[in-house]
Amino acid sequence: MHPMLTIAVKAARRAGSIINQASKNLDVLTVSKKTHSDFVSEVDRAAEDAIIKILHTAYPDHAILAEESGAKGDHTTSDYQWIIDPLDGTTNFLHGFPKYSVSIALRHKGVLTHAVIYDPNMNELFVASRGNGAYLNDRRIRVSKRIRLEECLIGTGIPFRDLTHIDAYFAMLKDIVPRTAGVRRPGSAALDLAYVAAGRYDAFWEIGLAPWDMAAGCLLITEAGGLVGDLEGNGTFLESGQIIAGNSKIFSQLLQIIAPHLTPSLIAAQRAAAHSA
Ligand code: IPD
Ligand code: CA
Ligand code: CA
Repeated sequence: MHPMLTIAVKAARRAGSIINQASKNLDVLTVSKKTHSDFVSEVDRAAEDAIIKILHTAYPDHAILAEESGAKGDHTTSDYQWIIDPLDGTTNFLHGFPKYSVSIALRHKGVLTHAVIYDPNMNELFVASRGNGAYLNDRRIRVSKRIRLEECLIGTGIPFRDLTHIDAYFAMLKDIVPRTAGVRRPGSAALDLAYVAAGRYDAFWEIGLAPWDMAAGCLLITEAGGLVGDLEGNGTFLESGQIIAGNSKIFSQLLQIIAPHLTPSLIAAQRAAAHSA
């Protein structure tokens, strides 16, 4: 394993043990609300601090972009940037619903190079390094081989904070549901993307994600032989937060189903992201 990935795994496992420990005493947690339906607990912060401490001790010059503490260091002067979601699926965690994960990615000169997603409930560790494939607990993983949409299981996220695109989203969902074997919304986008890499889902789409929800999962999927794009299939997903991922055949079929539901404001968000990238 590349030394940088080894450090990221150490950080993800440390965060996972903080989360596991705290999950035994959910009643005593201090929880605050960031915005509508956006909760943060002391566990998110403790897990993030532990991750940053491990990464920063090993690589003091690297820049960091973390959900709770924001950007540290200058990624325009440092070639390396760690992108961290210390607890993806906080609402699930707070309800004792066991679908959440730790997500850590490294970008080098703007290119995703290493990724870890850790599910502390299942003790499942998903890792990838650019050019080296994707692994789940040391076993190579690949995206699914299914090509018939009606046999496919699709993951998604239902908008719940920013409801700007909710009508367009439900129009997509309404078109996708009858053409597939089923749609799932567990509530941790990072884990959903890891499941695409592992072939558990054939594809996934969501609107309104942040870079820390997607960065590690995207590298896992491409290293597992899949495709990731925005809702038009282009490369703006990390900036626009609009994402489709899957095996190549189902990726293209989903793009076609979604295309008629792209509103001017969804397209404008992708265009704006393309300019800012
Ligand atoms: C959330 C989860 C969820 C997705 C949201 C994310 P958080 O992350 O990934 O599945 O639908 O958009 O914000 O806030 O629990 O880290
Ligand atoms: Ca998240
Ligand atoms: Ca989070």
